[in-house]
Amino acid sequence: MPIKNSKQKKKKKDNIEKEPKEKKEPAFQTVRGMHDILPKDEDRWKAIWNIGEKMSELYDFSLIETPILESAALFEAGIGVGTDIVEKEMFSFKTKGDEVVVLRPEGTAPVMRSYIQHHLGRFSSPLKVYYVGQMFRYEKPQAGRYRAFHQWGFETIGEGDPFYDAQTILLAVNFLKELGIKNVTLKINTVGCRVCRPNYRKKLLAYYKGEKKHLCADCLRRYEKNPMRLLDCKEEECKKMREDAPIILDHLCQSCNGHMKEVLELVEENGLEYEPDPYLVRGLDYYNRTVFELIAKDSAGFALAGGGRYDYLGELVGGRMIPAVGVSLGMERLVEYMEEKKIFVKAKKKPGVFFVIIGDPAKKVGFRLIHKLRESNMRVLEAVGKKSLKAQLKAANRAGTELALMLGQKECFEETVIIRDMRTGVQETVLAEKIIEETKKRLR
Ligand code: HAM
Repeated sequence: MPIKNSKQKKKKKDNIEKEPKEKKEPAFQTVRGMHDILPKDEDRWKAIWNIGEKMSELYDFSLIETPILESAALFEAGIGVGTDIVEKEMFSFKTKGDEVVVLRPEGTAPVMRSYIQHHLGRFSSPLKVYYVGQMFRYEKPQAGRYRAFHQWGFETIGEGDPFYDAQTILLAVNFLKELGIKNVTLKINTVGCRVCRPNYRKKLLAYYKGEKKHLCADCLRRYEKNPMRLLDCKEEECKKMREDAPIILDHLCQSCNGHMKEVLELVEENGLEYEPDPYLVRGLDYYNRTVFELIAKDSAGFALAGGGRYDYLGELVGGRMIPAVGVSLGMERLVEYMEEKKIFVKAKKKPGVFFVIIGDPAKKVGFRLIHKLRESNMRVLEAVGKKSLKAQLKAANRAGTELALMLGQKECFEETVIIRDMRTGVQETVLAEKIIEETKKRLR
């Protein structure tokens, strides 16, 4: 076999490393409606994470995590078979064991499933839990609407007092405020209960009966299965139709009326402004009484968060009636909004040092020293693939570290390290065994 000379070898390596000239679409891409979270967005995601954890602690919510895969029947029973989510948007499939499972479209029904399965009511009443995770809905992808998206959710289970409805709303508003999102409208409504809703439903059906010809295809289905959802159709014709439709506020039972009144009083008590919205019914059947959404005033109109009371969900998924209330924030929408409005959150990172290794013989010692620095809690950056001193210092500059620690063959032999102050360019040689204290001394 002919031996390749070094020039030929280099050419081969270059071929491997260089990007092809013409831009071809990569063979594999994210599935439609799904997306990657990229390092450029790290600071915003981390800000949401940090604030979420802070809020959970302040409001005394504990972590709960449920699997991404759940049985399809859980959502059919919990969210309702006539809802868009269950009817059109679930990613479902059969397992090898013939179980029909879905990628969860939301987090509330799984939390209730877990509450019942593990008798969580025994441990605290109410149970206050938060979750963070991906949800999946087969919706038409567009800005702010994905097929896989993250929610941060809070659920308070085991309490029917309006205090908890108001606290949930306040918690979500404060979450947004902490992120720098202040220009928000709180839309609020009630969807009544089993006592008053059937009567209202009848009134609604009677109103729409003679007007069916004006309804869109979706609303014709809603008329049969889920008449309250006729109210939140986005089609212009249907919106016009609802103007004269009866509203639930006029048909509430005394108890629901009192509940709503108290929620609003508590919300006002905290100086929160709200917009009563008689057409807000939300897309999940498990709600009763309070429902709400938080919408940024200066955005496309997507809700940043939504929630409400769901006292019947426990019963629907196989337990008994368990009063509960919660909210979920859509994390992609928060990130996009912050990006659009230039709400800049810069995560505070440790100052950090850049470790420069020159030449292969210094690699082993460098590897050991880097490990030692990290063990003593220092953030260390490196770019071992870049061979020259110049290229590595350039990378250090770009990373914005205060110090570069430099190690070549000579330093290895003398058991020293050079510390370079990246702001002034001043360099000092220190003993390798003193690397920790000498570095710490120079870091601000
Ligand atoms: P939801 O209104 O369906 O409620 O979703 C809550 C939030 O998730 C929305 O306000 C939105 O920010 C975000 N979201 C929903 N769908 C998408 C999507 N396709 N793409 C991006 N973001 C989206 C629930 O899921 C209930 N489980 C909330 C709840 C908790 N109710 C009581 N407790």
